[in-house]
Parts: sequence; C-alpha cells; structure tokens
Amino acid sequence: MPADATYTYDVLIVGAGGAGLRAAIEAANAGVTVGLICKSLLGKAHTVMAEGGMAAAMANNDDRDSWKVHFADTMRGGQYVNNWRMAELHAKEAPDRVRELEGWGAVFDRTADGRINQRNFGGHRYPRLAHVGDRTGLELIRTLQDHTVYLGVTVHMEHTVIELLLDGSGRAAGVLAYDREKGRFHVFNAKAVVLATGGVGRAFKVTSNSWEGTGDGHALAFRAGAELIDMEFIQFHPTGMVWPPSVKGILVTEGVRGEGGILKNSEGRRFMFDDIPDNYKPQTASDPEEGWRYVQGDKSARRPPELLTRDHVARCINREVKAGRGSPHGGVFLDIAWIKEKIAGSEEHIKRKLPSMYHQFKELADLDITKTPMEVGPTTHYIMGGIRVDADSQMSTIHGLFAAGECASGINGANRLGGNSLSDLIVFGKRAGEYAAQYARDNPQPRIDDGAVEHGIATSIEPFARGTAGENPYTLQQDLQDTMQSLVGIVRQESEMREAVDRIEGYKERLRRVGVSGGREYHSGWHTAIDLRNLLVVSEAIARSAIERKESRGGHFREDYPEKDPACATFNVSTRPGPGGAMQVSHVPLPPMPDHLKAVVEEQKS
Ligand code: FUM
Repeated sequence: MPADATYTYDVLIVGAGGAGLRAAIEAANAGVTVGLICKSLLGKAHTVMAEGGMAAAMANNDDRDSWKVHFADTMRGGQYVNNWRMAELHAKEAPDRVRELEGWGAVFDRTADGRINQRNFGGHRYPRLAHVGDRTGLELIRTLQDHTVYLGVTVHMEHTVIELLLDGSGRAAGVLAYDREKGRFHVFNAKAVVLATGGVGRAFKVTSNSWEGTGDGHALAFRAGAELIDMEFIQFHPTGMVWPPSVKGILVTEGVRGEGGILKNSEGRRFMFDDIPDNYKPQTASDPEEGWRYVQGDKSARRPPELLTRDHVARCINREVKAGRGSPHGGVFLDIAWIKEKIAGSEEHIKRKLPSMYHQFKELADLDITKTPMEVGPTTHYIMGGIRVDADSQMSTIHGLFAAGECASGINGANRLGGNSLSDLIVFGKRAGEYAAQYARDNPQPRIDDGAVEHGIATSIEPFARGTAGENPYTLQQDLQDTMQSLVGIVRQESEMREAVDRIEGYKERLRRVGVSGGREYHSGWHTAIDLRNLLVVSEAIARSAIERKESRGGHFREDYPEKDPACATFNVSTRPGPGGAMQVSHVPLPPMPDHLKAVVEEQKS
C-alpha cells in the first residue's frame, strides 16, 4: 500500500516541545524550508512540566554565579559521566538563550531592581532558575510557538512518526508518519531530520509524562541503527502527586522546595537530615532556621536538605515509605504552609509564587496548599539517556540525523539537575537547527526507498487483520508498565532486572499478536499498538543497560551494588542494534576531560 501524500523539506523536525520549536526557529532563520511534525496539538508538550524554571548562570540574584559554577554543578550532579563538552556549552550559552527569549516576548518574574528573578533548585549552588511563577515551561512553549508561527514554519499537527527512512547509503532521508485524525499515511522527505521527541515516561506506571512520552525518537533512531547511551539513568522526580489515584504521578514542582517547602514523614520529622551525602554541605538539623534564611537569599546560610539532588531526595522518600513512615496514600508530606510562621501574608505569597500548584491541588485533590501539607512521592519524570550525539552539532551516529532535548543524551550524565532541561532545550535545540540547516545546504535531497515505506505501512496495519481476536494493546501496555515500575524502578537488583528482560521478550511475542478492529480514524487502540513498538525498545534498553552498570550512580541505584565504583566512571553504557536487530550492549570509554575544565571542577570543589 503506498502513502497517501508526500511532503518535501530541507529540514524536518519531529517534536514540537522546547527543543523542536527552538530548532525550527534556527533552521527557518537560516533560510531553508522547515517542516515540523508534532504528535499532539501545537503548544501541548511535556516541556510545560518543567514548571519551576530554566537554569542559566545570569548571576542576577547572586553575583558569585558564573558559567564555571554552573558547569561544575552540572558535572557533580551528573556524577562525572556527563559529556563535558555539552555541559560546558550549556553553561556558557544558557544565559544568552534566556535573554533571547525575553527579547521574543517571554515574561519572567523580576527582582526588586527589575532583572529576571532566579530561584533556588536542588544541586544548583546559587539561585539560578529564571522563572515565571511555576509556569515557566508553558511560557517557554508559548514564546517559541509564537515565533515559529511568525516565521512561517509548516506544522503538521497530530502526526505520529512510524519509521525513520534512510537512503541507500544509510543517511537520514525522512520519515513515515500517520495522521491521527484520519489514519492516513504521509511520507516526509528531508535532507536533514531533527528528532526532538522528548522522553519515555510512559514505559512506567507512575509518571509525570503525558501520553506522548513513549520513547518515539529513541526507538526510531535505534531501529535505524543509531547508538543510544546511558539508558539506565532514569530520573524519578521526588515529588509527584500520590492522591487521588487518577492523578498519581502528576508533577509537584521542585519550585515548592525552592520557595521553602519542607519534607516530613508520618512522625512529623524532617527525614532529609538523616542522610546527607559527604560532598554536599546543607544546613544541619541543629539550626532549623538556616534553610529558611538560605531560600530568603542569605548568602552565608547553607541550603536545606530538601534541595539536595533529585536522585537522593527520591531515594530518601522511598526509604521512609518502605519503613512504614509514609503518608496515608503511600507518599510523604511536603509542607509549604509552614511559612506562615515566617511571613505575614503567606497565603498570597504562596499563590503568587506557585499559582499552578495552588490550583492543581485545589482542583484535583480538594486541598489548600497554603494551609495543609501535600502528599507527594517519586514519579518517573525524565530519562538522562538517549541518542548519542556530537556535542557541538547534535548530529547522531547516522548522517543527517540530529537529536536535541530529552531524546538526546550526554549533558546530564547520571542525574539531571532540575531546571537544566529547559535551558538544554534552547541551547541544543538552537544548535541542532543551525547544524541541520547547514547539513541540508551542503547535501542533495536523498532518495527514499518505496519498499521501506510500503513495509512500514504494512507492518502498522497488521493489527487490523487480527481484529478483536488478537491481544488487547492496553493490557500489554499495562503489563509492561507494571514490570518496569516494579522491577526496573528506583531501587534495582540483578535478578529482578533479568526477570524484566525475560518478560519484555515475552511482550515482544505478544505484540506480534496484538489486534484491533474498526476504522483508522482517531483509533487510540491502534495508536497504542504502534506506541508499544517504541516502548518495548526503550524498556529493553533501560533494563539491559541497568544490568550492565554494576554500581549505583545518580538515577541508577542498585541494592546489590549500593556504592559508586570509580572504575565505572570511565564509560557510558551503549546500546545499538546488532545483527538481526538484537540489542547489543557495550561500554564506550568517556573521553578524558581537558585540563582547563578539570581546573574549573577542582576550583569549584575547593
Ligand atoms: O520541578 C520542576 O519544576 C521540574 C523541572 C525540571 O524538570 O527541570
């Protein structure tokens, strides 16, 4: 069966979150033709779930901040398996990217003297997150979207990409997609393709990710032969909603802790004081006032332990819940209401600083956060792993295929600092757009293989042939999510992960038997069947990489190897398709950090 329509562009961008939109703007400004595909409606993207701000060393609230401190914080947060060049570019370029957004009309909260206000977040030494209340991701998307439309980029909304297409030489040549509304198949031919598809959260049962987070870019790149790295490093954001069940996993921004929110267990104790890593110096339990002074901007005060890195905070919450000291619905308490002891008019202050959180808990949980502590627990939020890219150009290991944002890997190492994702999107989205446009100018339009298109279409409509007699796609999705949540979650061990890999092999068999009935228009069961192909690739890559990393580091914690092993700081775990498509896992050595950056790290440590 042939495709229903073909579109041709110089640069094709898949994904319209922050990275995709920023790439589209840069490529359009370079004068090439740009097509943008998004799975949902324009403006709906997981980017909006980075609520608390974008990290950029602008030094507006503390003049001790600089790109060097931001670089050192990012490397330390990532536990030194980051791509140091990406961390360097990110720290140096983020302030300009934020100012550029401001120039395009983005609204930010302001300091008393009118500069962009910056708030505290975990793992950042100084207040560094440019923000607008707790709606920063939304503001970023709104601004970039306006600019993209203004530049005349063609947007194909509600399109899902099924397969990445290569030319005869193995270079990226475009994609095969279907439109969700009518279920028609469209071919997009492009000289350069940028993947900006976001994360994989939907492989897990409890996640902050919306329905689009099914690892599409990761899996498309992998199936086409690209290399993925660091897939074992998953970020469980410490604070997601735990109650009511229908909203379990929805993000509760770290901005709550940045504004002074404290974590308590069922005994009313601030359990974060129980386990302070050696390389951080937060306040001590003996001075309960110090953390408050820190969030108020006292430069001599030490940070509260609630602002340690996310991997650590999530594990502490997990420990409390497992020890039976959790909240009634299986989380812990996050209290911002306590600040009424500190400031007059705290209710208005909280509503102004955290308007979405106030609204979210009021509407969804019938709880007033200005008066009552919230119940929160870890939620799958972000994957540090993804498509291996060149730091400067963002080109993957496939020629003409670029990746930016969450689906690309390197900058974050083993754990991402909160707020680094929004700045990552604009720094590396810009770079991907720029280099993709340059690549498109330097190369001819590639030829797409019609056979690959027909094969892609035939494979996608197979579930209709099996009808209702086939396996139910939703049941399969649920089983996969249960497996990933329980066997490859926050705390891992070898036997459980091997069990997960065995089950995933079984799920692959079941996917071959999935059936759906009816027409192709807005058919969510069919869409789930297609998403499952991607979810199974990323789940397998996560589980196999996690087995391979025999230590605990950042977002990867193993009960059977609870310590960090210095020998494991020398490599990334890589997954790529071997002969017959089977997943091959190997170690790729990390390139040594150059002396001038080592000096920055050492200087900041001291
Ligand atoms: O907690 C948050 O607002 C999330 C931010 C992020 O993931 O960067």
